[in-house]
Amino acid sequence: MDELHSALKNVLADTFVMYFKAHQFHWNVEGPNFPQYHSFLDNLYNELWAATDTIAEHIRAIDKYTPSSLAELISTSMVQEEKTPTSAADKGFMELISANNMALVSLMKAYQAADAASEVGLSNFLQDRIDIHNKHGWMLKSTAK
Ligand SMILES: [Fe+2]
Repeated sequence: MDELHSALKNVLADTFVMYFKAHQFHWNVEGPNFPQYHSFLDNLYNELWAATDTIAEHIRAIDKYTPSSLAELISTSMVQEEKTPTSAADKGFMELISANNMALVSLMKAYQAADAASEVGLSNFLQDRIDIHNKHGWMLKSTAK
């Protein structure tokens, strides 16, 4: 169960840092396609933000605790936070594609740990998250072209 707990904390951290990356990009992106980018990123960050709560509640449902600080979330995340505002669309979308790939790696590890622990409902939830991140990947790559 410790392996599952650790894997779920990684999923939460990657989702959280990817969420904030998308939100700051929503604020800072510039260019002639600003309205479309701003709106696309609005949908993305809201989906990720909503997911953080459900992921955290799954951690509590296996009787473990969630991280309690932003510092722990950031240090646990494979996704790195931005150090400067992301205003260039091409850079921002590349960053998000990379973050999405990292989130998929964490999700697959957590899914395998949940499956090994016979946590059927949690496995199902993680499969759904993998499906959603695959869709995020498609949309991000199509928008970045
Ligand atoms: Fe906004």
